[in-house]
Amino acid sequence: MSTIDQYVGLRVQRLRAEDLQRKPNKWLAALPQFKTGTKFLDIACGMGFDSIAWARQGKKVTAIDANWGLVQNAADLATREGLKIDFVVADATLLPFREDSFDFCNSENLFEHVPEWQKISSEASRVLKEDGAFLIRCSNRLCPYNHEINHMHFYPWLPDSVKRPILRWVQRNRPAWINYSKFPAVNWFTHRGLAKSLRPLGFLTYEPFDLVTKDLLSANRQKLFFLFNALKQHRFLRYLIYPLLGSVEIIGVKKNNIQEQRVGHAESSRGEAGFENVEHEADLAGKVSGK
Ligand SMILES: C[S@@+](CC[C@H](N)C(=O)[O-])C[C@H]1O[C@@H](n2cnc3c(N)ncnc32)[C@H](O)[C@@H]1O
Repeated sequence: MSTIDQYVGLRVQRLRAEDLQRKPNKWLAALPQFKTGTKFLDIACGMGFDSIAWARQGKKVTAIDANWGLVQNAADLATREGLKIDFVVADATLLPFREDSFDFCNSENLFEHVPEWQKISSEASRVLKEDGAFLIRCSNRLCPYNHEINHMHFYPWLPDSVKRPILRWVQRNRPAWINYSKFPAVNWFTHRGLAKSLRPLGFLTYEPFDLVTKDLLSANRQKLFFLFNALKQHRFLRYLIYPLLGSVEIIGVKKNNIQEQRVGHAESSRGEAGFENVEHEADLAGKVSGK
């Protein structure tokens, strides 16, 4: 059996009833454009749990993934749930859709696996309509707990030069530790770095902390609203919390006019130190997968 079949087999074997009851991401759902926007693109849908959640909300969902076996299983699950979702086998770095096609793009647990992850952001910016929103959730470099390689906590804190040989060894000798994934995590992000990489593409960026309101918190967390409010007001306090978060989550809202302004600014300030230096935290890219 190939590692791809083993990977798909494992995902099917681990399917739980609650996976099919996922709720749409609450930060995305809280945006004003959620009420009017209908067209949703799930980029790297895997088994399609997020696609199913959005389709249940009455959204018109298109879902893509590079893995044919997963797409087929996701399509079967959607049919079983009585939902109409358009599934497409495609590469996230080369989306087969026209400009301005979608109101929302969703990319959960993908950026860490794709060496050319910046291309996914560019593609999302291209296919989104003005005011469309892009949710990214990916691996957090600052959190020592690691669910990308089993048994290896503190791995995210290691320097890239140490991560690379470890991952190569795991791929060769312990493929089960990375769930037989053909695309193990090679990129690690911070909130600040990921947000910064989106801005030159015309996105206004938000962390969940920026969007928090009392009614978006669970009953238990509402008691701690003062804490969330402090995190909302004072960005530096977030550095105390980031290491506790399993993932980085960023919401980008596409604004065509800031994209134009930025191009103009980039041209007028070409040569200024640092202006075009997007903070690429994820530059293990290509080095692991290219071997
Ligand atoms: C960890 S899974 C996440 C699935 C789903 N988004 C979720 O959160 O349940 C990563 C997915 O990314 C897909 N993938 C990896 N590289 C891709 C690419 N370049 N284009 C499209 N899909 C890709 C894999 O096939 C896999 O289904």
